[in-house]
Amino acid sequence: MNICIIGTGYVGLVTGACLAEFGMNLVCIDSEKEKIERLKGGHIPIFEPGLEDLLKKNVGQGRLRFSTEIKDGVTSSLVIFITVGTPPNEDGSSDLRQVERVAREVARYMNGYKVIVLKSTVPIGTSRRVKEIIRSHQSEPIHFDVVCNPEYQREGSAIEDFMRPDRVTIGAETEQAVAIMKDVYSPLYLNETPFVMTNFETAEMIKYASNAFLATKVTFINEIANLCEKVGADVHHVARAMGLDGRIGRKFLHPGPGFGGSCFPKDTRALVAMAKEKREHLGVVHAVIEANDRQKMKMVGKVREMVGDLNGRTVGILGLSFKPNTDDIRESPAIVIIQELQREGAKVRAYDPVAMDAAKVVLKKVKFCSDPYETVLDCDALVLVTEWNEFRHLELSRIKQNLKEPVFIDLRNVYEPSQMKSLGFRYCGIGR
Ligand code: UGA
Repeated sequence: MNICIIGTGYVGLVTGACLAEFGMNLVCIDSEKEKIERLKGGHIPIFEPGLEDLLKKNVGQGRLRFSTEIKDGVTSSLVIFITVGTPPNEDGSSDLRQVERVAREVARYMNGYKVIVLKSTVPIGTSRRVKEIIRSHQSEPIHFDVVCNPEYQREGSAIEDFMRPDRVTIGAETEQAVAIMKDVYSPLYLNETPFVMTNFETAEMIKYASNAFLATKVTFINEIANLCEKVGADVHHVARAMGLDGRIGRKFLHPGPGFGGSCFPKDTRALVAMAKEKREHLGVVHAVIEANDRQKMKMVGKVREMVGDLNGRTVGILGLSFKPNTDDIRESPAIVIIQELQREGAKVRAYDPVAMDAAKVVLKKVKFCSDPYETVLDCDALVLVTEWNEFRHLELSRIKQNLKEPVFIDLRNVYEPSQMKSLGFRYCGIGR
């Protein structure tokens, strides 16, 4: 089957690489000439474990190619995935201009029956709107189907999530479209991955509801952790015991500095904005957004409690990306925390295994270091913000030696409080 992917961001590149790995013929399109040239040269613009190898392998085996020509992609493919960005507007709603532009172009070049698949997270109603845009921009009426097929890939484990998903959601209107999508995902379908077949609006809603629920779960445990600190409870035991109840489940109950990334913050705001438009108040999701903002600021309070007045003090930060295994710093708690520390007069030294280039663009006056040990030199405190594996086995005696004051603030509960205290650190985690 010939498939075209329009938009070579995270979702597009992962989808392209994985479908090529399933044995399909892929052409990945992007309007940015330079990006496509770099991709042709084997340069992958994002850090995603396993992606570079998978792309190179499938390009080498002739199943995957890159192009800037949308016409080439549309005319040569039966299935066209739209994976362009849907960035947030000021009011939290999504900017759909790229999706709409691509829909018009697809309509223009359509030369026979096509299935147009929306994989980017799109506001409810977009699939129907795309269908109408294509219909009204065709030069002659040609039969086509639109499918809403939201992605559930986490950055950092996107390939695994694509290859072994918990479910595949297909929002479609015809049997033909459903049959073709089953073909696209045949290795998963044969593997008994659950497929949820539904209409456009439901498929769109499933994606928002899933992300909003996961964001709620993280926020819930963060608030419980904050209370645990005040009452002498240990949030890890609380989360474990809660999670053993099958109705609750163990995942996404790890407390931290608040969720970040390109998805939860954007999708929760977009959901609230959509509800507002329909005069519905999503009180829970609204509260989650507010509590998450508070959580990030609360982390600065923790540093203040441990260090005292921050003016003129030096703080070392480990981890800048919003979570490990990605270079993505969008809405990263680390960035918010650093900017607030600086606002209160602190000097900041920082290190991240892959996200420093991205961070340099948005952070000013931060001393970027080459490893954790250089980072903590002469610092009044160390704050571990992102739980990269290489921060799980730090040489603690070296860290302590290099710090001016042995203050260790562990925002991901990587270390054991009793062990850290016995090593002579003034240590605090979250909710313990
Ligand atoms: C999220 C969803 O998990 C994916 O299923 C979805 O496809 C994706 O959004 C999307 O909409 O495209 P992602 O943003 O990559 O994926 O990251 P997550 O692993 O979900 O983490 C989100 C945030 O929650 C991170 O800041 C992470 O540190 C935080 N988190 C997560 C916690 O603080 N505690 C947890 O227990 C879990």
